[in-house]
Amino acid sequence: MRQLNVLFAVLLFWLNLAKTESLKYDRFIKLHKVGGETIGTNGKVLLQTLTRSRLACARQCLENDTCFSYTYEDNDCCLFDGTFTTSAVVMTTRMPQTTPNSLQTTGSPPTETGKAYFNRVFCENGGTRNKTINKCACVNSYVGEHCERLMKDCSDGYLEGQYHGQDGVFTVKPDAAPNPFEVRCIMKIHGRLVFQRQKDGNVSFNRTWSEYKEGFGDVRGDHWLGNDKIYYLTNNSQMIMAAEMNITNRTKAVYYKDFQIKSEELDYQLEFAEAITMSNSTQYAGDCLEPFIGSSFTTSDKPELSPDCPQRFNGWWRHNCSSSCNLNGAIRTNKNSSGHLINHNATNSYEAIWNATGVAGYALFRTQMQLYTVNTNENIFLFNQGNSRK
Ligand SMILES: *[C@@H]1O[C@H](CO)[C@@H](O)[C@H](O)[C@H]1NC(C)=O
Ligand SMILES: *[C@@H]1O[C@H](CO)[C@@H](O)[C@H](O)[C@H]1NC(C)=O
Ligand SMILES: *[C@@H]1O[C@H](CO)[C@@H](O)[C@H](O)[C@H]1NC(C)=O
Ligand SMILES: *[C@@H]1O[C@H](CO)[C@@H](O)[C@H](O)[C@H]1NC(C)=O
Ligand SMILES: *[C@@H]1O[C@H](CO)[C@@H](O)[C@H](O)[C@H]1NC(C)=O
Ligand SMILES: *[C@@H]1O[C@H](CO)[C@@H](O)[C@H](O)[C@H]1NC(C)=O
Ligand SMILES: *[C@@H]1O[C@H](CO)[C@@H](O)[C@H](O)[C@H]1NC(C)=O
Ligand SMILES: *[C@@H]1O[C@H](CO)[C@@H](O)[C@H](O)[C@H]1NC(C)=O
Ligand SMILES: *[C@@H]1O[C@H](CO)[C@@H](O)[C@H](O)[C@H]1NC(C)=O
Ligand SMILES: *[C@@H]1O[C@H](CO)[C@@H](O)[C@H](O)[C@H]1NC(C)=O
Ligand SMILES: *[C@@H]1O[C@H](CO)[C@@H](O)[C@H](O)[C@H]1NC(C)=O
Ligand SMILES: *[C@@H]1O[C@H](CO)[C@@H](O)[C@H](O)[C@H]1NC(C)=O
Repeated sequence: MRQLNVLFAVLLFWLNLAKTESLKYDRFIKLHKVGGETIGTNGKVLLQTLTRSRLACARQCLENDTCFSYTYEDNDCCLFDGTFTTSAVVMTTRMPQTTPNSLQTTGSPPTETGKAYFNRVFCENGGTRNKTINKCACVNSYVGEHCERLMKDCSDGYLEGQYHGQDGVFTVKPDAAPNPFEVRCIMKIHGRLVFQRQKDGNVSFNRTWSEYKEGFGDVRGDHWLGNDKIYYLTNNSQMIMAAEMNITNRTKAVYYKDFQIKSEELDYQLEFAEAITMSNSTQYAGDCLEPFIGSSFTTSDKPELSPDCPQRFNGWWRHNCSSSCNLNGAIRTNKNSSGHLINHNATNSYEAIWNATGVAGYALFRTQMQLYTVNTNENIFLFNQGNSRK
């Protein structure tokens, strides 16, 4: 019985070892020699040593930031400060993520026949290592120490120190989302994720419930990202929502703390903690959304969610059929013959309107809604520089 226990403990020890080692093991690519090819490196030998196993050798390499590769043959472990290349096409194989049977779990060290060559993978998914700062510069929306995961939202990418200064389409994977999806990120203003935009005025926002659910338009232009995606993005993080709008000659904005929309089962109800008052700023649009906290999202094909509302209208959070606040209403692009925008009051329930102190009485010529998070002490009132600093 006692012997069995000891055996069991030894087995557990090896299983644990195998588990932790398999993760790190994954950070190497094995080079395969194809008939007659040579494998070479421009690196110098860092360390030549005897190790219990190939994995122990790999671990030695991982412990030193200047180690880029290693070779292993019969307990002979050699670390190099450069990578290996073959004279022909590099036939590399990514080590499978979980391959317990390539690891020894029985107690005896793994055996390799012939010398095996391994290059260290510092950065995955196309990232490249900046040797000066010993960090990966990631591409294609990946972040993390090894560029191993997609960003959760644009602020995640920005705060991870990647993609600074960019403005374009990125792929995000919020924790709550079943699949990644594309969004426009304005990294040059600290990682803003655009989930609504009307600028060109050529995408209709008079849409059905299912269109608002899935999203419509192109993230590169006028669009609504989609209620499910907005729900995934806001479900578990405390995000700021910036609503920006153009009146005749300038941009106005208002910011909301802890912005969230509920799931479809809860009719994508609107939630936020508070509007941030900026009465000191001429750019402050003022708030008119607060009375709508807890309101359901409504579309014209869901009359049961707005029974008191006889008209048809563009999707938005409503209550008592009020339309005093709706950035999804149609924007106007009216100009007089000398090219100046003509102000007017909203005359029907399809029009964009923001009936709050800074904007009341003005037609809206551009709308944009964005989600982001900030580090404490960072200025959350950063305006979209492209539109407001002029
Ligand atoms: C890495 O190895 C080299 C050569 O053995 C050594 O000079 C250097 O100090 C090591 N660096 C670290 C961080 O251990
Ligand atoms: C590496 O990072 C440093 C510091 O951020 C930067 O100045 C340098 O340009 C980077 N090098 C490369 C090759 O990107
Ligand atoms: C949203 O958040 C709630 C509360 O934290 C959680 O119970 C729920 O599973 C989350 N939804 C998704 C899709 O992750
Ligand atoms: C709307 O107009 C913009 C600018 O002219 C253009 O780039 C975009 O493709 C148009 N979108 C649609 C859906 O027509
Ligand atoms: C909005 O869509 C509804 C349903 O398709 C339609 O009846 C209505 O005329 C549309 N309104 C406008 C202003 O296009
Ligand atoms: C344009 O902006 C100026 C201040 O910059 C303001 O006094 C004026 O009322 C604005 N005009 C319109 C039509 O919005
Ligand atoms: C919005 O206003 C800004 C000035 O605040 C201006 O630069 C920009 O061109 C305007 N955009 C539209 C679509 O009216
Ligand atoms: C306006 O008020 C906000 C919030 O109190 C503050 O953070 C910001 O610096 C102020 N801006 C100016 C121009 O005074
Ligand atoms: C809706 O109507 C009720 C009763 O008239 C009122 O108390 C409430 O403030 C209204 N809500 C909004 C958002 O207008
Ligand atoms: C705008 O707000 C004013 C004052 O609160 C109100 O009298 C007016 O009816 C509102 N207009 C719209 C279109 O909601
Ligand atoms: C167009 O609007 C601008 C600004 O309000 C005004 O100065 C100009 O005279 C108008 N042009 C015409 C032809 O009405
Ligand atoms: C819009 O309506 C307000 C009152 O609600 C009025 O003060 C303003 O002059 C109107 N603007 C235009 C362009 O008619």
